[in-house]
Amino acid sequence: MDLGKRKGYTVSEQKVILSFEHGEAEIWAVTSKIINVFCGLESREHDSRAIEENREQAVKLSVEEREDGLWIDTGALSVRVSDGFYVDFYDENGDAVCADYRGQRKPLQVVSDEMLKILASEGHKADRGTGHVFDVLKQLRGDEYFYGLGDKTGFLDKRGYDYEMWNTDNPDPQVDSFKALYKSIPFFMALTGEHVYGIFLDNPCKSFFNMGQESQEYYYFGAAGGNLDYYYMSGNSLAEVLSHYTYLTGTCPLPQKWTLGYHQSRWGYTTLEDVEEIARGMRERDIPCDAIHFDIDYMQDYKVFTWNESRYQGDAAGYLATLADRGFKPVAINDPGVKKEKGYAVYDEGVEKGYFARTPQGQVYINAVWPGDAAFPDFGNPAVRRWWGENQKFLLDKGVRGIWNDMNEPASFKGPLPEDVVFTDEDKTSDHARMHNLYGHLMAKGTYEGLKRLDGRRPFVITRACFAGSQKYATCWTGDNHSIWAHLQMAIPQLCNLGLSGMPFAGTDVGGFGSDATGELLARWVQTGCFSPLFRNHSAMGSRRQEPWQFGEEILAIYRKYVKLRYRWIPYFYDLFHEAERTGAPVMRPLVYHYEKDEAARKCNDEFLLGDRILVAPVIWQGMNKRMVYLPEGVWYDYWTDEKITGPVWFVRDAPLDVCPIYVKAGSVIPAMEPMSYVGEKKEDVLLLDVYPGIGEWEHYQDNGEDFAYRDGEYNQYHIVVDERGISQCRMTHHGYERTYSRVLANRFGVSTELETQRA
Ligand code: GLC
Repeated sequence: MDLGKRKGYTVSEQKVILSFEHGEAEIWAVTSKIINVFCGLESREHDSRAIEENREQAVKLSVEEREDGLWIDTGALSVRVSDGFYVDFYDENGDAVCADYRGQRKPLQVVSDEMLKILASEGHKADRGTGHVFDVLKQLRGDEYFYGLGDKTGFLDKRGYDYEMWNTDNPDPQVDSFKALYKSIPFFMALTGEHVYGIFLDNPCKSFFNMGQESQEYYYFGAAGGNLDYYYMSGNSLAEVLSHYTYLTGTCPLPQKWTLGYHQSRWGYTTLEDVEEIARGMRERDIPCDAIHFDIDYMQDYKVFTWNESRYQGDAAGYLATLADRGFKPVAINDPGVKKEKGYAVYDEGVEKGYFARTPQGQVYINAVWPGDAAFPDFGNPAVRRWWGENQKFLLDKGVRGIWNDMNEPASFKGPLPEDVVFTDEDKTSDHARMHNLYGHLMAKGTYEGLKRLDGRRPFVITRACFAGSQKYATCWTGDNHSIWAHLQMAIPQLCNLGLSGMPFAGTDVGGFGSDATGELLARWVQTGCFSPLFRNHSAMGSRRQEPWQFGEEILAIYRKYVKLRYRWIPYFYDLFHEAERTGAPVMRPLVYHYEKDEAARKCNDEFLLGDRILVAPVIWQGMNKRMVYLPEGVWYDYWTDEKITGPVWFVRDAPLDVCPIYVKAGSVIPAMEPMSYVGEKKEDVLLLDVYPGIGEWEHYQDNGEDFAYRDGEYNQYHIVVDERGISQCRMTHHGYERTYSRVLANRFGVSTELETQRA
């Protein structure tokens, strides 16, 4: 985008308003390290659905006209704006970090219309540039890596690839060449030899992120509509840049503790008997389990907010109560498509109140989803969100404890929704082109707020479609993967990049959704899955069953071992979620998050960290019983053998089917709990600490695991210190939650010592 020569500027508080030959633009210092670049192509205002609060902090700007442009300095960074509306960012030492590209853009590839059609029918894109209302080209450095961009397929480092942000439900096995998936999170972080920065394009329209696929000299991002409205974030680390992004778009609120347990699901648990077989199966076989999911078959004819009581002996609520008595929390699916059927209350009310999306001619827009012809709630309308939220009462009254939002891209079976379908965007009329990527986000928001009002506990919402900021309302899963090794491999970079996109609470369908799992695949998948923030086994109707016991005793024993390990470390996971709420840090992290300068870490796709203490190097290849492990700098302990290993180092680790290599950093204390079949089965009276000698400390957090009382100070905080001999000390630094631990047991290489907790 070239706005021509600069004509002048004015400064209004923290904004510099620039006039050019061909228009106006704005640079706004939101904080000293977050700069907004804005050109109102469609409207003059920032109108964000991702950033919901005013995040401006006082910054003293200095603005100086120099020969090479206008320089804006915040004290922490400076911005240079030159003719054409080229914008460059410099760090506080004056080093260029991120600069607009001034060279010649690669010419459009000219192909005949005929060829274009053929290419398009095969999924290729040959018309780069068409339909973009702007593109921002940035210089690409030789040593630049890109992370984030939500749930995109492929590897951790996004350099060299081309993506689109358009929430997409494509049931084909998702591979590296997919441009778009269910989520649109237009945020990425760039890491160069010397610097880190982030860019968030706050534009919900279809957008494009070409990370060096088109050229070795530049990368670009652009959109098919809306404003040029992006935030540049600087920082000294990926962690700091991510904290700026979540400062803008919000962090993931602390979930209920049971949600960190194991979830069992399958599309096909239709009757009470089906569910009961699972509930019994879990307890009889001693597989800890907190949640059973109810897919679409619990409904009457796939009508939302109905329950097919005849499949539940006429008393679903009564049956769900028996599940609750045994520690199972029912999670029910809730799709947006409302069956078109006169006499069905939800449909009738939606029509009467004008709560559904409309055609440009004013009719209720109808497409098809599971219930057949269906209408689409207009979630951009606050009244619709409220209505949807209130309707959750139906499910809560049955005893449901979590809501699973699916098909909310929105998916549709009779072709995509046309771009001109009429939606509401808060107080104004909008269209599908503008609201598509926000649809799942706004559905999750309505659901979250409804649950919060009605139930009071921390709402548990799972969503498939997301936009930037969805982390405030929902956890997510990566949609319809397949039971193939490639998808177990993809799970690691995909979940790590979701974490780097502000969504710490994410998971894949363990075992794979479509296609048929094998025992070996399931055993290996649970070894990765038990460490993913959301831990759910889910599979598709018609695929081979993949409950833990479907593949014989050996696989069952392996499965049990890893589910139990997950439960042992739930207190550690909970601490990480507490950190995620405070700082935006992911729970599951790629190695590069803590070892930015380490070349091996920058492209590591087959290992990950939990917090900064535990490194997991799972086997994700068929037939392998050894693997290469990389440990970054520092001293590590092999979790299984206690062997001490000093990194950086590559080595081969034996990994027979029951072994997932795990390493713990020296100086760690991993808070753990006694074995339980579900969270809350026993009082958490005893805090176990898995201690690894070295100098280190840990903040452990404890609360009632359920409601929002912690925000009023009802929590306990413990400061735990460990030394070279592996001796630890535990001091309570905040006492606000009445229940404290009666015992703290430090476990050092199998030897248990009782610790006395000192009070603050
Ligand atoms: C979609 C979901 C899947 C679910 C199915 C039936 O494919 O992604 O998880 O089981 O619909 O509801």
